[in-house]
Amino acid sequence: MMNLGYICHMISKELEIAAECIKLGKTVALPTETVYGLGANALDPMAVARIFEIKERPFFDPLIVHIESTRQWDLLTTLPLEKVQGLIDAFWPGPLTMVVPKTDKVPDIVTAGLPNVGIRMPNHPMALALIRLSGCPIAAPSANKFGRISPTTAEHVRKNLSEADYILDGGPTTVGIESTIIQILPDGFQLLRKGIITAEQIEQHMPMSKTPIAASEKVAPGMLDAHYAPHKKMFLTDFTTPPSIDIHQAGLISFSGKNTESYKKVIRVSEHNDLKEYAVHLFAAMHDMDQSDIQFIVAESVPETGIGGAIMDRLKKAVFRFNS
Ligand code: TXA
Ligand code: MG
Repeated sequence: MMNLGYICHMISKELEIAAECIKLGKTVALPTETVYGLGANALDPMAVARIFEIKERPFFDPLIVHIESTRQWDLLTTLPLEKVQGLIDAFWPGPLTMVVPKTDKVPDIVTAGLPNVGIRMPNHPMALALIRLSGCPIAAPSANKFGRISPTTAEHVRKNLSEADYILDGGPTTVGIESTIIQILPDGFQLLRKGIITAEQIEQHMPMSKTPIAASEKVAPGMLDAHYAPHKKMFLTDFTTPPSIDIHQAGLISFSGKNTESYKKVIRVSEHNDLKEYAVHLFAAMHDMDQSDIQFIVAESVPETGIGGAIMDRLKKAVFRFNS
């Protein structure tokens, strides 16, 4: 059996190699608490370009920049840290991305030409250590091909994004869906992408803004209608109107554990009817179903309140191209 000292030694070796890759302008797939990201030096436009190339991601879709300390804040944004200190104290490190005015140091390729940059401090020891060892903020979108299912294990990355120069394995992610994204405006925040941290939680620390966001700034922010899509046809159901497919050939991603009879395969994403568990296991269940011997994927819908809103956002985008 391997002892703990040996395991720590191995992990620090891997981190050193990964940090060396980042310094050389290469890409590293890294674990975060939400999903795995494909990272590169955020201040190196050529390294960032490689992320877009590997992901086959359109250049209009900006990347989130990850930091390990608020000391890196002023390098990236002109917004004084004090304006968001309450949010940082409450939610960082954690699954909250703040979109704020960028400095000249942030290459345009990172923000897709937008005047704002998305910043997040991930809550994962390997991600934080990698950023520290690399000595630079790391730009990282989710480590999947554009529009496909996000990875929640290193194995998902190995299977679907083998072009990454290096893959750090930090085990399965603990949140399971991407960070909540908010834009910080003079009179408060606007919600750009739902996540495990809800608007109601954020409102305890900052008011919701009344300012409409300019259409030109609304470009992709995870706001495309179709996203997170499996290769197999996927449908959503609340069981009142079953999808018009042969469910004997379908796999069911089940939340409640009800109506599972007749499906060829069933993955129960929550033992305890807990929406957080649904979020944690959703993408892994989609990956699993996509590789199984079934024709269709059916996912059980949930009420769109709180975390349910973030889950339904992912599910609706995943089924969009089959239902429009
Ligand atoms: O949890 C997460 O946020 C994960 C992990 C790896 O940190 N990252 C992630 O990245 O989900 P990605 O690229 O898959 O989604 C980032 C979304 C994109 O849809 C992008 O449009 C939006 O964030 N975004 C990034 N920078 C932005 C900006 N400056 N203005 C508006 N939206 C922005
Ligand atoms: Mg993504």
